[in-house]
Amino acid sequence: MKKALITGITGQDGAYLSRLLIDKGYEVHGVVRRVALEDPEHRLWRLRPVMDKINLHSGSLESYASLFDVVEKIKPDECYHLGAQSFVSYSFEDEFSTISTNINGTHYMLSAIKNRAPKCKFYFAGSSEMFGQVREIPQKETTPFHPRSPYGISKVAGFELTRNYREAYGLFTCNGILFNHESPMRGYEFVTRKITSAVAKIKLGIAKELRLGNLDAKRDWGFAGDYCEAMHLMLQQDKPDDYVVATGETYTVKEFVDAAFRHAGLNWEDYVKIDEKFYRPSEVHELKGDASKAKKILGWQPKVNFEGLVKMMVDEDIKRLS
Ligand code: NAP
Ligand code: GDD
Repeated sequence: MKKALITGITGQDGAYLSRLLIDKGYEVHGVVRRVALEDPEHRLWRLRPVMDKINLHSGSLESYASLFDVVEKIKPDECYHLGAQSFVSYSFEDEFSTISTNINGTHYMLSAIKNRAPKCKFYFAGSSEMFGQVREIPQKETTPFHPRSPYGISKVAGFELTRNYREAYGLFTCNGILFNHESPMRGYEFVTRKITSAVAKIKLGIAKELRLGNLDAKRDWGFAGDYCEAMHLMLQQDKPDDYVVATGETYTVKEFVDAAFRHAGLNWEDYVKIDEKFYRPSEVHELKGDASKAKKILGWQPKVNFEGLVKMMVDEDIKRLS
């Protein structure tokens, strides 16, 4: 039985990936913060349906010793390093903790694997945020990076560390350059979930308005479940490599808002207010990915389109609140 270790298992992608790996017969292990083990009700809610099928280990991305111990104990065959401070907006508020957690956390994981499980295949959760001020549309593996946030900078460093461990030490390390992916398990601070949860509240008479920032930003939004399949496929190849994972379709935040309200039978212009406080000091205006390489080499295809994603999220939020 193959052993997989997931950092960030309590997050959106951790929840989908752990289900996928359990279904494939893996023994699944996850690193979680000690506070999560003490407060499972609030901090482990996404893992509730699989709690009896996974093994959780206390550890922090800030502590090399804790990550080293987990790698030493598990000796995983595959490691999916998803743990990170992942909210771009917050990275402007506390750039020091974002940069130190994200860069050091990745460095610690790579070093622990090199020292204690050098045959382990390693996946790094890179991001389209690394393209930032984009140099070409659509963006592919060869597009230069120009990050526009402390989060984006931390991901470029993680990407380079991951590539360097491959080139310098011969480790099987892959970078996924994933574009935005969403789901009913998305955190409430991200714009899609903020929108769909507000639509549900307005529909049910619990809220009256939704305050948002820049409605003109364009994102290439896919479904998290589809994107976790791509992560797994990367580690099943003969050679380690880096892949863009995206739908290739781009919509503005306003188009997401419009689709979500329309799906609930509402007109967004009656409820949405623009609030300057949700604007960022520097914005990534347009992301659109070219996933030709992932399609050709991994045989990967997204299954859920934009309309399907919006409906899935709105319906689930209405159901949950009802
Ligand atoms: P998420 O829901 O925010 O999950 C982040 C995970 O990291 C959580 O499990 C969190 O644990 C953990 N974490 C944060 N700081 C930690 C620390 N100091 N020690 C231990 N664990 C820590 O993110 P996601 O959407 O699943 O994304 C997964 C990864 O993919 C992230 O690295 C993200 O940057 C990257 N990514 C995401 C997208 C996307 O659109 N979703 C696109 C590209 C790349 P707690 O629950 O304890 O906070
Ligand atoms: N969060 C948020 N809240 N975003 C808003 C709001 C608001 O009220 N109003 C407008 N936006 C705009 C942001 O300015 C941004 O242009 C866009 O909506 C998407 O914001 P987020 O949903 O917070 O996602 P993100 O694109 O910044 O980052 C996500 O995707 C990255 C991949 O490109 C995160 O999941 C990152 O971890 C991931 O790497």
